[in-house]
Amino acid sequence: MTIPVITVDGPGGAGKGTLSYSLARALGWHMLDSGALYRVTAFAALDSGADLADEATLAAIAGDLDVSFHPAAEGLTRVELAGRDISSDIRTESCGAAASVVAAVVPVRKALLERQRRMAQAPGLVADGRDMGTVVFPDAPLKIYLTASAGARAERRQKQLLEKGESVTLARLLETIEERDARDRSRAESPLVPADDALVIDSTGVSADAVLDTVLREARQRQLV
Ligand code: DC
Repeated sequence: MTIPVITVDGPGGAGKGTLSYSLARALGWHMLDSGALYRVTAFAALDSGADLADEATLAAIAGDLDVSFHPAAEGLTRVELAGRDISSDIRTESCGAAASVVAAVVPVRKALLERQRRMAQAPGLVADGRDMGTVVFPDAPLKIYLTASAGARAERRQKQLLEKGESVTLARLLETIEERDARDRSRAESPLVPADDALVIDSTGVSADAVLDTVLREARQRQLV
């Protein structure tokens, strides 16, 4: 039996996490937060004192990750590395920046590929990331590419970080967002690009509920639900 997968790709701060979570909840499907896997790999590398330029060590760390995800409060996931709660450690700006570096390492992406594909379990999977529709699940019956202006994404990120007690100026966030976008878009392996058959949604000035409605309507039209 083919497990239906809805992929949600796009740049950081466009609202992919919110959309993926609410979509998975509305459909009763599983969810894959692939960015968290890159963040956990970066965290594990930094924690063990590995050099972020040492590709072989990074790939070995990615291949051996003893990571588990546990549903927590509304919309939140507890992420454990070898039983240690690292949920907030992986959400910092510095871990995000390290994740972007680690994610450009080809052997790391290869090491994480099968782990991601195994997440496709009945009744279905919502897969959130950058290359879900292009590389990991190329046969997915519904592919979303969610984007928004850099300003709107910086504002969204600032709000998320403030909720976690991390204060960063909008100008600084805009700078890191543009820097990270450039790295994610220009890397040789799995660059951030919409799949040819993706439905592109611009969430600038659009509510999360309206984006969810659009995707649910599309899923119904394609008889996924
Ligand atoms: O979505 P996020 O901010 O948690 O992602 C962290 C980093 O990982 C980001 O720089 C992009 C990268 N990433 C990736 O290269 N491929 C994915 N499928 C998911 C995330």
